[in-house]
Amino acid sequence: MQKERFLTGIQTTGTPHLGNYVGAIRPAIEASTRQDRIAFYFLADLHSLIKTGEPEKLRQSTMEVAATWLALGLDTDKNYFYRQSDIPEIPELTWILNCFTAKGLMNRAHSYKDSVQKNAEAGTADPDQGISMGLFSYPVLMAADILMFKARKVPVGRDQIQHLEMTRDIATRFNHYYGDFFELPEPVIEERAAVLSGLDGRKMSKSYNNIIPIFAPEKELRKLINKIQTNSQLPGEPKDPATSPLFQIYKAFASDTETAEIEKRYAEGIAWGEMKAVLFEFINQQISEARNHYWELLRQPGFIEAELRKGAEKARSISVPFLKEIKSAVGFGPLGG
Ligand code: TRP
Repeated sequence: MQKERFLTGIQTTGTPHLGNYVGAIRPAIEASTRQDRIAFYFLADLHSLIKTGEPEKLRQSTMEVAATWLALGLDTDKNYFYRQSDIPEIPELTWILNCFTAKGLMNRAHSYKDSVQKNAEAGTADPDQGISMGLFSYPVLMAADILMFKARKVPVGRDQIQHLEMTRDIATRFNHYYGDFFELPEPVIEERAAVLSGLDGRKMSKSYNNIIPIFAPEKELRKLINKIQTNSQLPGEPKDPATSPLFQIYKAFASDTETAEIEKRYAEGIAWGEMKAVLFEFINQQISEARNHYWELLRQPGFIEAELRKGAEKARSISVPFLKEIKSAVGFGPLGG
């Protein structure tokens, strides 16, 4: 049986938080255990360079993200877990794909257009102010990530759907010239995954500064949960679970029966302080084993490094020969052979 290839890139900016966990990491790790598929999960550090000019932050985030996936049990023998910058064939393929990508296609990318829009709103003279070629051609690098490994399924958030369309466009154009080198990938959108709200009730996101790190030490986890905003309803007053961030987070970690029980307690008027204590205990016991593992891993960067090297070696056993074929197809390579 040919296993279906699932591939996704993980940004190495910031510390993984509970929103990342329920929205992306948990479903991805679950999916990777299935026998009929094989996962290519990689740290997209070439992409992250677009956002940060701070080497120490990039390194720290790379370590934290890698440790998170390892601590949560990703099987790196069955799957491919690597760091993008360890695969030099990816930027090399990016250049080749650049030559088959219409500039107009990139002009239409949402992330680029958003940046231009922000400049317009700020009234800057140059609409491209502060926009690097990295940001502009971001989708081409992403296409190379995917096409290099002939991945058919790409689990991503909704904001990435356009990038997948672009990948298909670029692949089709290349295939048209040179034959069927590339598979056309499809996005996989996890419809059921919860979108968590953060401390202030807005979507949990690094850019809002309202996150709860997955592996915050126990004391800090308690402190952060206590900070989650609630309304001014008093103990004993019936409360609406639908508008309560505490409830929503609880639900993302709970079975249906457990959720129903908490709904009942909302109807009975559970005090916010009590609900915070319940939520802390509930998450804390689910996460504690992986958290211990995580902090242990962070003390052994050499072990994390060895895992990533193993992944890079496996990935390159695919990318090296495939890039060679591609280069030969476009007319590079040894003469007179
Ligand atoms: N752009 C993706 C994001 O922001 C990360 C990413 C980079 C990616 N390369 C990829 C996702 C390849 C899927 C496939 O989340």
